[in-house]
Amino acid sequence: MTGTKIASTAAAGTGSGPFLLDVRGLSKTYRSSDRTVEAVRDLTFGVAPGELACIVGPSGAGKTTLLKCVAGLLPPSGGEVLLDGARVLRPPENMAVVFQEYGRSLFPWLTVEQNIDLPLRQKKVPKRRRRELVAEALESVGLADVPGAYPWQLSGGMQQRVAIARAVAYEPAVLLMDEPFAAVDAQTRAELEDLTRELWRRLGMTVLFVTHDIEEAVYLGQRVLVLSAAPTVIMEDTAIDLPAEREQLATRSAPRFAELRAHIYSQVQRAKTYHRADPAGRPADPAGDEADHAEARP
Ligand SMILES: Nc1ncnc2c1ncn2[C@@H]1O[C@H](COP(=O)(O)OP(=O)(O)OP(=O)(O)O)[C@@H](O)[C@H]1O
Ligand SMILES: [Mg+2]
Repeated sequence: MTGTKIASTAAAGTGSGPFLLDVRGLSKTYRSSDRTVEAVRDLTFGVAPGELACIVGPSGAGKTTLLKCVAGLLPPSGGEVLLDGARVLRPPENMAVVFQEYGRSLFPWLTVEQNIDLPLRQKKVPKRRRRELVAEALESVGLADVPGAYPWQLSGGMQQRVAIARAVAYEPAVLLMDEPFAAVDAQTRAELEDLTRELWRRLGMTVLFVTHDIEEAVYLGQRVLVLSAAPTVIMEDTAIDLPAEREQLATRSAPRFAELRAHIYSQVQRAKTYHRADPAGRPADPAGDEADHAEARP
């Protein structure tokens, strides 16, 4: 891959505003009586308002840990997360998260409509507006005809659409997504990717999207950040200079897409053995006993 043609910042961690989301020197170490795990060592990056940034990294790199810290669900061990200049100390009102495990993120005893409505009630949105938001969100994910169904009566892909509808109805300024399509089939995944881009462009949200799928990151993102193996740092920050109009077949078969995919792939390979003390990166272990999770789809 020719480095000159790809606009990237190796081991970036750079950042001068104006960012909506500003992660500064974030670290997280899990401590229990018998074990200490340094998951995130030192992460610094910013996401501009309205930007769609993807994060890829080896399995166990600390991607979910990072998102939980950003979402205010987990206190960092060091550093800070700022949302619109204010430090995140608890889940912010204007942020929503879509988790990978839709099966566990929807309440089985509530209907689709009630699942989407619940956070709006907590936000104290007036009833009439809530009804509008729920109906619009269901319409936008193509589920207008199942408001009264229970999650367990729906397919996996439909349940994930409900989770997306719930996040969108909440009208968040920032949407965090943690490998949201990992458990659905390839066709549904492609549809949900397009839905995500369509909603992002229409609603002007800022999106931070975590995936282990390099192709997905390149297809979706305006930017791809590559995380090193734990303890995690940002190894690479690549601008995805594909046209804004993306289409599954045409975009994925474009020569530029292939170049970007190959570049990110090589960075993820490097990420598996990257250590701060060794910024050049040691050669990747060809046996690759871990982290094969982060790869391009065949
Ligand atoms: N609650 C916890 N207590 C202790 N260690 C944890 C906890 N959660 C995560 N870890 C550890 O922190 C490291 C990073 O985990 P994390 O789940 O953030 O990785 P990930 O990049 O999201 O992985 P994957 O790609 O498999 O989802 C791992 O070594 C993991 O074992
Ligand atoms: Mg994870």
